[in-house]
Amino acid sequence: MVARVVTVAQQKGGAGKTTLLVQLATALAARGHAVALVDIDPQATLTGWMRLREHGARGVPELRFSMVGGWRLGVELDRLVREVELVLVDTPPHAESEAKGAIRRADLVLVPCQPSPADIWASAATFALAAKEKRPARLVWTRVPPRGRAVEEARAEVARRGWPTAAAELGNRQSYVASFARGLGAIEAEPRSAAAAEVEALLAELDALWRG
Ligand SMILES: Nc1ncnc2c1ncn2[C@@H]1O[C@H](COP(=O)(O)OP(=O)(O)O)[C@@H](O)[C@H]1O
Ligand SMILES: [Mg+2]
Repeated sequence: MVARVVTVAQQKGGAGKTTLLVQLATALAARGHAVALVDIDPQATLTGWMRLREHGARGVPELRFSMVGGWRLGVELDRLVREVELVLVDTPPHAESEAKGAIRRADLVLVPCQPSPADIWASAATFALAAKEKRPARLVWTRVPPRGRAVEEARAEVARRGWPTAAAELGNRQSYVASFARGLGAIEAEPRSAAAAEVEALLAELDALWRG
């Protein structure tokens, strides 16, 4: 079996890429899946989280991890897809060529987007890249506040653009920040939290998508 490759991409820095990736990774690992993470972002946020995880109280580095330059991604993926079930690739902002390589190899591109005009504008570049490479992409709303006119306007704008959007969303929650700071996912740190439930819902949706 060859692993699925999921690339998390979004041109905007601070959009929530790395957060979304670690939440999905830890939820998949908790279900017993063999997961590999690849960090091609020179800012190395995912690498930092992984370091916390390896030195943390749990001390169970059950996630495979590699940090590679974008130019080496192809070789790394060729190796990893034979060794695990799912590979998650974290990408840098403002780096078209690096992101392009990661999107080209993706079975699915996840585009985290906060409900704001700036995030939606930045997402357009990622959706255009995915379309050019003929890769399926899904917008995932993140840092969604409980309510507000801006949120409704953002939803309407994305609907107007016709981007496929996950029904499951990540709220603006401290559980994501706090679990990240411990090298964990919300599912591990606070399994009964609203955040954990959101991640489970997203995973269930991806499962259904992959089962067809
Ligand atoms: N759903 C969320 N709720 C609360 N804070 C979030 C959420 N997603 C991301 N953040 C915070 O936003 C900041 C940027 O997130 P990050 O995942 O590093 O973005 P990116 O990888 O796109 O640069 C971090 O401080 C992170 O803790
Ligand atoms: Mg990041």
